[in-house]
Parts: sequence; C-alpha cells; structure tokens
Amino acid sequence: MGLKMNPPEEHLNRQMAGVAFPIPSGLVQALRNARHVTVLTGSGISAESGVPTFRDAQTGLWSKFKPEELATRGAFQRNPKLVWDWYAWRRELVAQAQPNAAHLALVELERRASGFTLITQNVDGLHQRAGSRDVVELHGNITRVKCFEEGLVVPTWKETDETPPRCPRCGGRLRPDVVWFGEMLPADAIDRAFAASQACNVFFSIGTSTLVHPAAALPFEALQHTAMVVEINPCSTPLTARAHYALRGTAGEVLPDLLRML
Ligand code: APR
Repeated sequence: MGLKMNPPEEHLNRQMAGVAFPIPSGLVQALRNARHVTVLTGSGISAESGVPTFRDAQTGLWSKFKPEELATRGAFQRNPKLVWDWYAWRRELVAQAQPNAAHLALVELERRASGFTLITQNVDGLHQRAGSRDVVELHGNITRVKCFEEGLVVPTWKETDETPPRCPRCGGRLRPDVVWFGEMLPADAIDRAFAASQACNVFFSIGTSTLVHPAAALPFEALQHTAMVVEINPCSTPLTARAHYALRGTAGEVLPDLLRML
C-alpha cells in the first residue's frame, strides 16, 4: 500500500485548485462519499503553533527533565511543586500559542463532513480554541485542574503563595487534569474513540508517532473495519506501511490543500 502516485492530469487539477501538496484523487473521492470521518491527532499538529511535540527535547530550565519523569503520580507525590511548576510553564506556552492552519482546516472538515469525530492525544486545548466542537480528549487538558485526592475538576481555587494550591473542598493538593503515565485514560473518551474508529469510512492519523497505546491502536482498529486510513506526518511511523495513503508533509501544509481539493 503506501502513497499512490497521481496520474499527470491530477497535477493540472492541483494547479487549478491552487494547491502545492499532491493530494491523491482516491482520497478526495473517498472523502466526498464518506458518511463518517474520524481524525486522531497528536502533538505534531500543534508543532506549527510553536508548541513542542511530546518527544521534542525540553527547552530552557526544563531541558534536564524528560516528560516521562515529570508526568507521573510518583513524581507529583515526591515533588508536587516541581510538577505543578512544569505544567504552569506549559500552560503559559500554550496560552501564547495560536491554533494553526491545520487546526482550522479540521474545523472546516467537521463543518463539511456528514459525520465527524475528532480524537486528540493533545492536552493543549488548541482544537477547541480553533473552533472544533465535541473534541474527544484521550489524555485530558492542561488548562483544567483537579484535586489529587478526590479526582474532581476544580474550576477555581484560592491563589496563595503555596504551590500547588489546595482543593477548596477537601484541602488536598491540586494537579493538572491530564492523564499521567501509568494512569487509566477516561473510560468514556476511550469508548467513544474506539467506536468512532470502527464506524468511520475515512480515518486520519495526524501528527502522532503512533507509539503510545491505546491511542496508537485506533488507526489499526479503523483498518480492521475497512476504513480508508490516511497518515499525515513528515516522518514514518509504525502505521506508515499499513496506511492507504501516507502524506509526507506537515499538517499545516497538507490539510489546507486537502480542503481546497474537496
Ligand atoms: N505536522 C505533522 N506531524 C508532525 C509535525 C507537523 N508539523 N511535526 C512533527 N510531527 C510528527 C512527528 O514526526 C512525530 O511523529 O508528530 C509526531 C509527534 O510524536 P510525539 O512527540 O511522540 O507525540 P505524540 O505522538 O502526540 O505522543 C503521544 O505520548 O507521551 C505520550 O501523552 C503523551 O499524548 C502523548 C502521546
């Protein structure tokens, strides 16, 4: 399988549509006929917004830490202030970032598709800020916090000089509402993600290394249920050889061109 080359007249269509990236005609056709489109995104879709991907090297004072060392319950229990401050730094990074052309293209795709599910591994909330509705967040959202003891989301808390702040209900420490390594993903999000992967006609895997399960299983679930699977990633991943189309480009260049061809 892998990327099918376009016949020469495709090039003409592309030029007329004013697109630079070779969008396969088979994909355009399938999208036009699709009853349901499901999209899985990873941190690569936010890269063009200036948000480092999950496996990019950490920068600045956090460069000496690996996310895997900070994003765990144990790390928080050992050093709650360090973990809270890391997420506060990432919240600041995300607050300064803007949704990019790829996020916006998915909002347009959702508007035009008869059925659409957007599943993200990202915790940056950029899909929602771009205008995507009903995003299935597999790994939580960095802009929300919850009580470490009770697990309930806390909309506001009293700022004191203590970090992390305390839960207004039980006095426990507050933590980011994200899924840490070793923690279970939200059951309803997982159920919805697998159902949407099994029921779709076209499945996009965009900006993810396809390394971390259970999210990494979703495109293979779609393949097993006869969906057309499309990967958008400048690099290859464990999905590349199995995808019907592997579009080797950045999300910010491929998705707008795809929408222009529809
Ligand atoms: N457009 C598309 N893809 C891109 C771009 C871009 N502009 N820039 C980078 N990529 C690709 C990279 O080639 C890589 O395959 O995005 C992928 C990012 O991979 P990771 O850094 O592993 O991030 P992700 O796949 O989202 O990680 C999944 O792992 O650690 C957990 O919870 C964490 O949600 C995260 C999950």
